[in-house]
Amino acid sequence: MLTSPPKLYRPFLSGRYTVSAGLYRLGVQAVPWVGPDASSVLEGHTFALDRESPRFVASKAAAHRRALHEYAGEAGLTPELREAALSFVARTLARESGGVMTWDGRTFTNHALGWSADLGLRWGRLKDLRRFNAPLAPLIADLTPVNALDFLGLNAQEDLAIIARHPDGGDWLAAVHVLSPQHWDPRDKLGRDFVAVHEPVAGSGPMNATAARLVDAVISRGPFVRFAWGVAMSDRLDHHPVAPLDPDRNPDTHFDPERAFLRVERQTLTGFPEAHGALFTIRPYISPLPEVVADPAHARLLAAALRTMTPGQVAYKGLVPLLPDLLAWLDGLDSDG
Ligand code: HEM
Repeated sequence: MLTSPPKLYRPFLSGRYTVSAGLYRLGVQAVPWVGPDASSVLEGHTFALDRESPRFVASKAAAHRRALHEYAGEAGLTPELREAALSFVARTLARESGGVMTWDGRTFTNHALGWSADLGLRWGRLKDLRRFNAPLAPLIADLTPVNALDFLGLNAQEDLAIIARHPDGGDWLAAVHVLSPQHWDPRDKLGRDFVAVHEPVAGSGPMNATAARLVDAVISRGPFVRFAWGVAMSDRLDHHPVAPLDPDRNPDTHFDPERAFLRVERQTLTGFPEAHGALFTIRPYISPLPEVVADPAHARLLAAALRTMTPGQVAYKGLVPLLPDLLAWLDGLDSDG
């Protein structure tokens, strides 16, 4: 678990960049392009714990210390939906942690981080935080989680969000604990509906036109997994718009293959129809670009996929200053091979 390398996902091997639902039914439909040999794999998990865990915890702890309120909050979350979503998180996170974490319905313990707490999931309460010696305990020694969602989120590598739907039909983002956002501000999204959340995404018109159906599928027909991807010029996890600047999306940064990364977000959606909502998880996977396209056929498909982006999408993905050099480099790899 804590020693396994992060998985490599290469969604660009479709040879196209699309702004579309791209939902795979977890445990039912195989995900293509997984692992070193880009094979089809049937995945059933929500949470993945791997050797990157200390880096995620350190990054989440830094965001927490800097300004938790810029990353996390609730908007009209009902006790029923809070309880449904958080008990799924506690149960599933523990079950998928290979024994690193445990949950007995009252106490959640993380044996790597060396802390445990009693959680009241209906009202989001956290009581009796206890700390003990453990390998990663120094990472969170000075941190005090503010509620059950915050505590659970700090134990996971994934970020968490909860979508709610009014019985009359309207949906809204009812909770966020997103400490590794990719150039968006969770405060701009909290309380907004699917369409408003996705309005800045270039080319999201057709997807947004089907928002009601998508939200319905997510709540009543999941669980699903989907992927988003882009090229980043740093491996930093937290790209909150007001976090300290780094080379990614910095107009002064030029493309350099040795400093470029593929950032894939693996996202899952699990519905709670009785509680009128769903849990959305986001897990970034950041891999050095030269490793990702070591096979010339992969370099060719990444170049092909990038060439299908509209100018608006190139701008939205922060690629305007990078794309010509990135494509020239990829084309060179392909012709070398
Ligand atoms: C059926 C469920 C969903 C689908 C199909 C979907 C689809 C997408 C797509 C295609 C993009 C563009 C990705 C890109 O950069 O290439 C996107 C971006 C995004 N999605 Fe979703 N999404 C879903 C659910 C959610 C939920 C529940 C949230 C709540 C946090 C969310 C938050 C975002 C954000 C914040 C962005 C980036 C927007 C920005 O840059 O301001 N999505 N989504």
